[in-house]
Amino acid sequence: MILVFATNNKHKIREISDLLGDDVKILGLSDFNITGDIPEEAETLEENALYKARYVHDRTGMNVFADDTGLEVTALGGAPGVYSARYAGESKSFDDNIDKLLAELQGKEDRSARFRTVIALILDGKEYLFEGIIEGEIISERRGDGGFGYDPVFIARGYDRTFAEIPLREKNSISHRARAMRQLITFLDEQSRGAE
Ligand code: IMP
Repeated sequence: MILVFATNNKHKIREISDLLGDDVKILGLSDFNITGDIPEEAETLEENALYKARYVHDRTGMNVFADDTGLEVTALGGAPGVYSARYAGESKSFDDNIDKLLAELQGKEDRSARFRTVIALILDGKEYLFEGIIEGEIISERRGDGGFGYDPVFIARGYDRTFAEIPLREKNSISHRARAMRQLITFLDEQSRGAE
């Protein structure tokens, strides 16, 4: 099976290719000369992921999936959520986003938060959604220099180190993205078994 992953992020493509093994070949947007970011202007992760998947399906006619992720903070009513990448503005600076998050949470007792990834799949013209969540909390100052985004201030439940302090391998095995990818993989396995 050949699937297009609607991303230009080579790390994400490698990660899912490793998880999927040899039966599924993953192509990225660069294989179709689709360069630049696909607009992410919807108000939910689900709509953004579906928009990206449809955008690529319309242009390639291929089976395709797309992902979208947000950090949802309880005390902030689920913000930054779908706006996580540009929380502090269009410069999309990880540092500015963390500064803003810590400022918004100052004095708040409830520090609980979760990362949520949604994957939209278009397979043989039908649309499917998958979700992966990791619960945790936001600490009040940065720790560690691995990972990216909000990793230095996020501690997953059951851990005492941030996502920026634990080895990338470990993060990638428990993360929201990995969980959503596993849902997708289980579904694809079931589909291919049903087709045998
Ligand atoms: P995307 O949908 O994967 O592009 O993620 C949107 C935004 O969510 C990123 O720009 C980051 O700010 C944040 N984010 C997504 N995944 C992670 C993660 O694994 N760690 C920390 N921040 C993340």
